[in-house]
Amino acid sequence: MSRSATTFACTACGATSRKWAGRCEACGAWNTIQEEAPLSQGPGARALTQRGKTVPLTDLGTEEPPPARISSGIGEFDRVLGGGLVPASAVLVGGDPGIGKSTLLLQAAASFARTGARVAYVSGEEASAQVRLRAGRLGLAQAPVKLATETALRDILTTLDAERPDLAIVDSIQTMWLDTVEAAPGSVAQVRAAAHELVSFAKRRGVAVVIVGHVTKEGTIAGPRVVEHMVDTVLYFEGERGHQFRILRSVKNRFGPADEIGVFEMTGTGLAEVANPSALFLSARDAPAPGSVVFAGIEGTRPVLTEIQALVAPAPPGSPRRTVVGLDSGRLSTILAVLDARCGIPFTGLDVFLNVAGGLRVNEPAADLAVAAALLSAREDVAIPPDTVFFGEISLSGALRPVAQTENRLKEAQKLGFSQAVVPAGSRLGAVPGLKVREMADLTAVVGEMFGAG
Ligand code: TYD
Ligand code: MG
Repeated sequence: MSRSATTFACTACGATSRKWAGRCEACGAWNTIQEEAPLSQGPGARALTQRGKTVPLTDLGTEEPPPARISSGIGEFDRVLGGGLVPASAVLVGGDPGIGKSTLLLQAAASFARTGARVAYVSGEEASAQVRLRAGRLGLAQAPVKLATETALRDILTTLDAERPDLAIVDSIQTMWLDTVEAAPGSVAQVRAAAHELVSFAKRRGVAVVIVGHVTKEGTIAGPRVVEHMVDTVLYFEGERGHQFRILRSVKNRFGPADEIGVFEMTGTGLAEVANPSALFLSARDAPAPGSVVFAGIEGTRPVLTEIQALVAPAPPGSPRRTVVGLDSGRLSTILAVLDARCGIPFTGLDVFLNVAGGLRVNEPAADLAVAAALLSAREDVAIPPDTVFFGEISLSGALRPVAQTENRLKEAQKLGFSQAVVPAGSRLGAVPGLKVREMADLTAVVGEMFGAG
């Protein structure tokens, strides 16, 4: 039998390779490759078809009702889960350190417990006294949550097996260690093995398990991406430092829609739900200024209006700056290229700064038109009427393409008091009374109409 060679794994994305490298070929991160203990070889492949037992194969059709979900009572949290927590499922909650993961999960734990679910909260990061102090600050000291502080996964699983709670929260996966794996806590091998044990425990015992994972900057600690493929649901808790908004986003969900968001506000007494995010994101708008455009977007199943801000300024000699916050920088380059090639409006020699106000991340191509309008408005120094929203995808030819859920976007805009919308021609408008909709076929038409040039 050949001896298995040493392998290496990336702590950022979990990709394995035969040799060490300074940069991970899979995800491009630097200094994240760590040596990993070799996996056992298992029985020889040839014997596999004879040594197993046959398992029953069944039909897809079933009379069984779908699993009953447990609802937390925190609407924004339940929405992101797809309507509540599914028993025997594993959920990963990732996010930057200090963003509020422990706060969110302690609040969710208390809320689940109050609806009658039995909840265990295992902290490997903080002492019991710290967790109790936080619970007190959140006004949750009386909630019937069972608390443990432990990092040895064998002891944790033994305890959970005896207690059989409905929900177990493990905070965080990077602090857990298994005595069967010879690697430091936080290494790819430990994190992966610990997550695997927790997920299989969830399936075997019917306990819903929520695993917290820190997004790590340095390469020696494995990040949550290493375990994304093992769990049923992956949620990320995001937000800009200095902003009080926090967004819980589902990026994978075997039991519900992905890309759903829940919006929270970090207050002195914990996270508060934001039921109407559009109003919140637009609340801080100033007087109409060049470069400011309202985008009618869709996050998950819900329309969200956000302000897109652009600033264009003469650049010093050299290559001009392209600084983007909350949007994809590749998308900005594409839109700048289309404006140059199709409308004859170059941005050479100009610094461009682009920003989504409020700390939201916008991933939709539907934001293209709003971005282009913000860039044009900033470049021409012409303010866009503040009662106007924009959305639509821009193709490389400069044509505008209709986007999904046009009617929902228009309704949200109308609800928030907007009176005009600029949308791609051929959009399925539906009936939205009180809103003047201007359909445009391409970017040149937008330039001509809005800025009187072309
Ligand atoms: P925490 O939940 O500990 O973050 P994580 O578990 O993701 O590392 O939250 C830490 C931050 O949240 C901390 O900087 C203080 C802030 N915070 C509030 O603003 N209000 C509160 O009521 C609580 C509990 C925390
Ligand atoms: Mg924490």
